[in-house]
Amino acid sequence: MELGVEVAGLRLRNPVIIASCPLTADLRTIERVAQQGPGAVVTKTIATRPARPPRPNMYRLSGLGLLNCEDWSERSLSYWVEEGIPGAKKMGLKVIASIVSLSGSADEVGELAEAVTGAGADAIEVTCLYDPRDLPDQVKEAKSRSGLPTFAKISIPVLMDEYVTEIASRLMRAGADAVVISDTYGPALHVDVATGEPVLGKANGSGRLSGPAIKPFTMYFTALVTRRVGVPVVACGGISNAKDVVEALLVGAWAVEICTAPLLRGVDVIGKIIRELDSFLESNGIRSVSEIRGAALERIKRREEIGPLRYGPPRVDGERCTGCGLCEKVCPRGAITIVNGKAVVDVTHCAACGLCVSTCPVRALGW
Ligand SMILES: Cc1cc2nc3c(=O)[nH]c(=O)nc-3n(C[C@H](O)[C@H](O)[C@H](O)COP(=O)(O)O)c2cc1C
Repeated sequence: MELGVEVAGLRLRNPVIIASCPLTADLRTIERVAQQGPGAVVTKTIATRPARPPRPNMYRLSGLGLLNCEDWSERSLSYWVEEGIPGAKKMGLKVIASIVSLSGSADEVGELAEAVTGAGADAIEVTCLYDPRDLPDQVKEAKSRSGLPTFAKISIPVLMDEYVTEIASRLMRAGADAVVISDTYGPALHVDVATGEPVLGKANGSGRLSGPAIKPFTMYFTALVTRRVGVPVVACGGISNAKDVVEALLVGAWAVEICTAPLLRGVDVIGKIIRELDSFLESNGIRSVSEIRGAALERIKRREEIGPLRYGPPRVDGERCTGCGLCEKVCPRGAITIVNGKAVVDVTHCAACGLCVSTCPVRALGW
């Protein structure tokens, strides 16, 4: 299977990139992820001065993902220029240098871009401190002073189509070669109910959310920006397994970035995702990653032409149904009963909401 992709002029051996995060904090951590064979690594975000994040700064939110209040890199610019980037290159990695302006000025980003380019970075990812307003000017500066493929990583503080498409359009006009959708979502808060203490160390206790809970936003805005703006998108947020990678490709992504999955489950998950992606493509007769890119967008387009679906009640596959009763339990209208060990749908009360279909563990309910 051909897993290789070319994203905005950057050739990768597979589409799984390690996002900027504690796993790319320095050479020691980068070496651990390098062994898993990612397509590229994005350095922890480099700024003009090292960060001093609160501690603790990460909290596992079971079932949802992760809450964090880490800042940018705790390593200095000179560390990244002299050791970090050249060392990661020696490991045979494609290195995307993540940079941020602490003052918001484009000039600061330009200086950082020049420095990481001189150190041998393969591409640049310009990020922001959760407000993408000034990113377009910064991207323009980074690109003109580096000449490297330049990704713009956005945060989405306003969950509205117009907001996101406007930022993405401005970034494209500013010369961004790809837009990374997205950073974490927040601010967010989690308090220990036994003590009343916020679990994270920031003064107001807040953090930002990543992992499975944010994946549907990643998919929605990847599809939206691909369709409406046309700039290449790298999907980032909640991608945890090979099926999530396939989903991102289907909605138009050129590659994916992952962070929370290897943080919560160990770095082995990176290699596992890449191997499972390969097997998924093979078992579905797909020869290359590019073959499926954007396939779901065609469906969305057709849906927009014909209007919303209006299915009738779901059908029960009697062979598959085990009579477990989960559908009966979740049906909000009380329209399902288990009769003689099989689900029976009362069509007079069923509203065809679909909850039973997505709940059934053996896919015995369908349209
Ligand atoms: C602990 C932690 C630290 C992060 N640090 C950075 C960072 O320095 N720069 C950056 O651009 N994104 C940073 N991120 C955001 C991730 O790169 C990624 O965009 C986000 O977590 C969503 O992807 P995920 O759900 O796969 O984790 C960080 C995320 C976490 C959880």
